[in-house]
Amino acid sequence: MHAVAVSRSIEVARGGRRSPETMGYDGRRLALALAVAACWAAESIAWGAPRPAAPCMYVFGDSLVDNGNNNGILSLARANYRPYGIDFREGPPGRFTNGRTMVDFLSDMLGLRPPLVPPYATARPADLPRGANFASGASGILAETGNNLGGHYPLSEQVEHFRAAVGAMGNASAFRGNATRLAEHLGRCIFFVGMGSNDYLNNYFMPGYYDTAQRYGPRDYAALLLQGYAAQLAALYGLGARKFVVAGVGQIGCIPYELARMNSDNQPSVGSEDISISIGIGGGGGGVWSSPTSSNTSGSGGGGVSGNAKPTPPDGAGACNETINSAIAIYNRGLLAMVKRFNGRGGQLRGARLVFLDTVQSGTDLAANAAAHGFTVLDRGCCGVGRNNGQITCLPLQRPCDDRSAYLFWDAFHPTEAVNRIYAAKAFGSNNTAEVYPINVSQLAAL
Ligand SMILES: *[C@@H]1O[C@H](CO)[C@@H](O)[C@H](O)[C@H]1NC(C)=O
Ligand SMILES: *[C@@H]1O[C@H](CO)[C@@H](O)[C@H](O)[C@H]1NC(C)=O
Ligand SMILES: *[C@@H]1O[C@H](CO)[C@@H](O)[C@H](O)[C@H]1NC(C)=O
Ligand SMILES: *[C@@H]1O[C@H](CO)[C@@H](O)[C@H](O)[C@H]1NC(C)=O
Ligand SMILES: *[C@@H]1O[C@H](CO)[C@@H](O)[C@H](O)[C@H]1NC(C)=O
Ligand SMILES: *[C@@H]1O[C@H](CO)[C@@H](O)[C@H](O)[C@H]1NC(C)=O
Repeated sequence: MHAVAVSRSIEVARGGRRSPETMGYDGRRLALALAVAACWAAESIAWGAPRPAAPCMYVFGDSLVDNGNNNGILSLARANYRPYGIDFREGPPGRFTNGRTMVDFLSDMLGLRPPLVPPYATARPADLPRGANFASGASGILAETGNNLGGHYPLSEQVEHFRAAVGAMGNASAFRGNATRLAEHLGRCIFFVGMGSNDYLNNYFMPGYYDTAQRYGPRDYAALLLQGYAAQLAALYGLGARKFVVAGVGQIGCIPYELARMNSDNQPSVGSEDISISIGIGGGGGGVWSSPTSSNTSGSGGGGVSGNAKPTPPDGAGACNETINSAIAIYNRGLLAMVKRFNGRGGQLRGARLVFLDTVQSGTDLAANAAAHGFTVLDRGCCGVGRNNGQITCLPLQRPCDDRSAYLFWDAFHPTEAVNRIYAAKAFGSNNTAEVYPINVSQLAAL
């Protein structure tokens, strides 16, 4: 069943790509040579433009970082329609937010020029040495994850796409068929991997469609995910990756989609769970943060408790779903342990360096300082329908909120560009090891 979905999505992806055979061989070779020459020049010239902290970046993940790989496939997890990308003018649509994603900001901060890496689905061979984005909305570590939303590329397939990219680069004249030279290049690149949100949102906590919650307790499920994750990171290592940035899963129990479900008890519902899921493009989920009121659930319910100094959100929102958050905390702890193990001496990935992004920690910090960053709406999507704008996610041509930089959430599942920018800045330059461990991405790139 899965194999059918996989082969279909590969066919569509091939159809969407420019076939190498249709490009003149010489043109292709020249283009690649120029791209790589530019890349090397940027690395070696100390004057003029500042040297990029990393010459290249490859991205693996879900809709939090997908930049258009799902555009050509049959899936509800697509974002190539307005108002998605309403604040993004630098290229084609397909991002699950109003503007840039976190990895868009990160590649810019790393000094890549042009700052954005293309989606693999439409990348030209000449683009590949500088980086590509393999991420796919609705995808997860488990192959079955996200099947409820249609086609997508699970992590294992994203890694296979990277394998094909490495093959194409290895043949390129720019590396003169020299595998050592290619390996040296890849060893300097940043490999961003952010996976797992959908393994909870569009698998474990969707018992009507998946049986994982019956088969595994939260601990065993996290172990299952991390086992698959470790294997894929090892595969990337085998293909030449050395500098990894591995993002933990955010507090899905606090996203508007879950808040809306929490608060559905006494109020008429705009849409049933089934409706919101089947229309939901999101799939990516797992944006973010602990809402600032989440540590104190006593103020929730029935429209707020007067006398509470904290602003009480409308609809009685405020408390997060701790069942979901505690399952994710188990996963994040295991992921951090895995990063430590891989970084340890005698670790399985000799010479690799992994950085762990603690999304929950960064999100909690952001929420605590929300006002200082100009955020005033913490529990509703900027675009969406129903309670918390989270019951049905942002629909085609729907009018979003005007003050997008005041919202943490763009839609039922995903953070706004304003949040993505802060989160990238933390990853790149935070000196707090609770947020980025054991070093920040700037230091990783400089190694
Ligand atoms: C690279 O070259 C090898 C040997 O000529 C060939 O088999 C392979 O298909 C090529 N790979 C790509 C991605 O062009
Ligand atoms: C391949 O590249 C490496 C590093 O740039 C260099 O030392 C080596 O001589 C090259 N090998 C060949 C066969 O060109
Ligand atoms: C929290 O989420 C779980 C899983 O979806 C659900 O079973 C539970 O009812 C939710 N808790 C509340 C209080 O809504
Ligand atoms: C939660 O809020 C209530 C009411 O404002 C307060 O009495 C209580 O101390 C708070 N608890 C925590 C853990 O902050
Ligand atoms: C990264 O971390 C180091 C060490 O904590 C710190 O000195 C530096 O300011 C941080 N930010 C950047 C951009 O390097
Ligand atoms: C970390 O950075 C903050 C500002 O971003 C600075 O105030 C603080 O002194 C830094 N701490 C260390 C240990 O470098």
